[in-house]
Parts: sequence; structure tokens; C-alpha cells
Amino acid sequence: EAPVTLPDHFLWGVSTSAFQIEGAFAAAGRQPSTWDAFPAFGGHDASVACDHYHRYREDVDLMRDLGVGAYRFSISWPRVLAGDLAFYDRLVDELLSAGIAPVATLYHWDTPQAVEDDGGWLDRDTAQRFASYAGVVAERLADRVAMWVPVNEPAMVTLLGYATGQHAPGKALLYDALPTAHHLNLGHGLAVQALRAAGVRAVGTANNHTPAWPASEADADAAGAYSDLHNWLYADPVLAGRYPDSLVDRLPVRDGDLDVISAPLDFYGVNYYNPTRLRAPSEGNPLPFELVDIDEYPRTGFGWPVVPAGLTEVVSLLKDRFVDIPPVYVTESGCSYPHTPQDTDRIAYLEGHVDAALAAGVRGYFVWSLIDNFEWDSGYSQRFGLVHVDHGTQQRTPRASYHWYRERIAR
Ligand code: FCB
Repeated sequence: EAPVTLPDHFLWGVSTSAFQIEGAFAAAGRQPSTWDAFPAFGGHDASVACDHYHRYREDVDLMRDLGVGAYRFSISWPRVLAGDLAFYDRLVDELLSAGIAPVATLYHWDTPQAVEDDGGWLDRDTAQRFASYAGVVAERLADRVAMWVPVNEPAMVTLLGYATGQHAPGKALLYDALPTAHHLNLGHGLAVQALRAAGVRAVGTANNHTPAWPASEADADAAGAYSDLHNWLYADPVLAGRYPDSLVDRLPVRDGDLDVISAPLDFYGVNYYNPTRLRAPSEGNPLPFELVDIDEYPRTGFGWPVVPAGLTEVVSLLKDRFVDIPPVYVTESGCSYPHTPQDTDRIAYLEGHVDAALAAGVRGYFVWSLIDNFEWDSGYSQRFGLVHVDHGTQQRTPRASYHWYRERIAR
């Protein structure tokens, strides 16, 4: 068995995902994904995005100058279905020659349309198909990728993709979306098996976590119900081999599934953006909670409250709930703001969250994102980059926050 070789120093990184930056929809026979024609703000689409598929060398140069130790990117399932692994070969080699550890996510929401047409994550077989794909990628890259993440934020796929329909594939099934959660978890577990079989170095997660705050003492149950749906539906099976009591009866779990899902991991990746406030539902609401605005903090361009202490809270909740949690990494943290030369708000956001991550004793911190990119249904309207991208000319310009992060890393 290959030894687990997590880097032994604090890992400073940046994150992106394939669909949000690559463009090149038709290159090397890439197949369509569920997101290709999904409606986004202003009629935007990702067919060009940041043209990273052709400009990856320039983007790796930006990372080298930034001084990051790791780059978390994702691999496009629709490209690999078409047999295109060469692009990721080139990217990984470029990273290694820049001294940057490649951290590969296998599924960051760009489901092949052909898989969706067969039922997507509502269908149990998708978990198996995902694992086969994971095996193909690992055969090719196991020797060079430092850390692997099978599924990015399964919670958002279930909640936004299948429960509310805000994201592709746009299904608004409410509670009938819950089978997708189990199939995503099973996909994680089966992919971990496939990755281990190929001898990868380290495998973990990138699960989205939010502290669920009750609006008042009377709203504790509402907050608990929401936390089960957002946090524990994914963390519990992976880290403890069980499902929350409130949800287990709605999940199509078969004998042995939880053993597959709870196989030991080398790290636990947390994506953190903001806390969530909940109150008891008003009459006629079919859900056991209602979202309440958090208005006593500054907000990002998206309107998300800026709460670094929420990151501390997430990490301590996890450490309390799971005695055997593997080393924790912050696999995404960042904010969108309209572009300004001083970039003051983004720097303040990152300063607060980097400090919180260090105080919480995590092993690494990955900024979302290296460059402005296609922010799903919001198109190009939300700028998350340390580097400004002119989406007309593809010109990259490092922001003040990029220079701030470079100095923070060097310190
Ligand atoms: C996360 C996603 C990432 C990006 C950021 C802003 O939930 O993983 O792709 O959209 O939010």
C-alpha cells in the first residue's frame, strides 16, 4: 500500500473548477454537460469562460509568482468521457515544474448530459459510473497528484441542483431530491475505492459547511433541521458511517453502503463562506425551517455576511462531533466584490478568514478563487478572483488582494 504523504507544512493554496474557467466546450470531442446551456445572469455562458484550457500556462505562472504551495482544480468528466486526459497531463506537469502540488477534484458539478439523461444523481448507477471515471483518471494521474477530492460540495448539488432548481439540472423536487444526497455520498465512497486501487497518495473531501444559527431560542429545532440537511447529511456518513435521524428514513440506503461511504480518509476538506440563520416555519410552509437574513455584519458583493468566526465555529463543531476526524483543510474560502483598485474589502475578508483558519488549527487554506470566473447562475457578475479577468480580452491583472496574499504566504 502506498504511504499517505500529506504535505507536513501549512499548505497555502488557491482553488478553481473546470467548468468555471476552462471554456473550450468543443475541444478534443468534449461532451455536453448539464451546465452548458443552463440559464445564467445576463444570458452569460461558460463556452469561453477564462479560456484556461488554452491559457493554463499563464495561470500557472500567476500561481508561481503568488508563491502558493498547492492548486486545487477540477477535472471535467465530460472531457474524460471523450478520452481527453492530455489536457490534465499538461496542467499537472506544468504545476509540478512550478513547484506547486496538484489537488484534483473529480466532480465540481459539470455532470455529463448523457449521465443526466439516464437520471443523473437520482439514479443509483450514477455513483458506479462516477467511480469508473475516477478510476480512469487515477490510472493516469495517481503518480503526480498530491491530494484528491472526489465530490465538491454534494450539499449544493442536492439543494440547488435537485431541490430548488437554482442550479443545473434545474430540478425543483424539494424533499424528493434526497436520494441524490445518498447517491453522491455513495459516489464519493466508490470513488475512494477506485482511487485507492490506483494507488493515489491522499484522498479527502471538499464539503460545504455553515454554522446554523437559530434566530431565537424557540428556533433551535429549525436550525437543527437545516444543519442536518446542509452539514450532517454529508459529514455523518463519511466520518461516522451513519445518517442523521431526521433524514435516514428518506434515503435509499442498502446494506453495506455506509461501510463504503465511511472508508477512512487522509484529510477532511471544508468549504466555508458564511453562517445561516433559521427560524421555525410559518404556517403552510412544507419545510421545517425558514431562512432569516443576517444583517448585523458587513456583506460581500453577493450579499453574504462576512463572519470569520463562523469558520472557527465550523471547525470546532466538526472536531467535537467526530472524535476521529482526519486533518482538516479549508479547501475553499473567499468572497466576491465589484472590482476596485484598492480591493480593500476582499483583503479584509481574507485577512479575517486566514487568521480564523490558523487559529482553528487547520492544515491548509485555499482561496476561492485564483481568477474571476463563471459563477454558475450568476454568470460573470460576481468577481471572486485574486486576479481580475477582462472577459472580453482575457487579460489577467493581479489585484491588491493577490499582492496581499503573496506577502501573507511569504511571512
Ligand atoms: C462554492 C463553489 C464554487 C464557487 C463558490 C463561490 O460553493 O464550490 O464553485 O461557486 O461557491
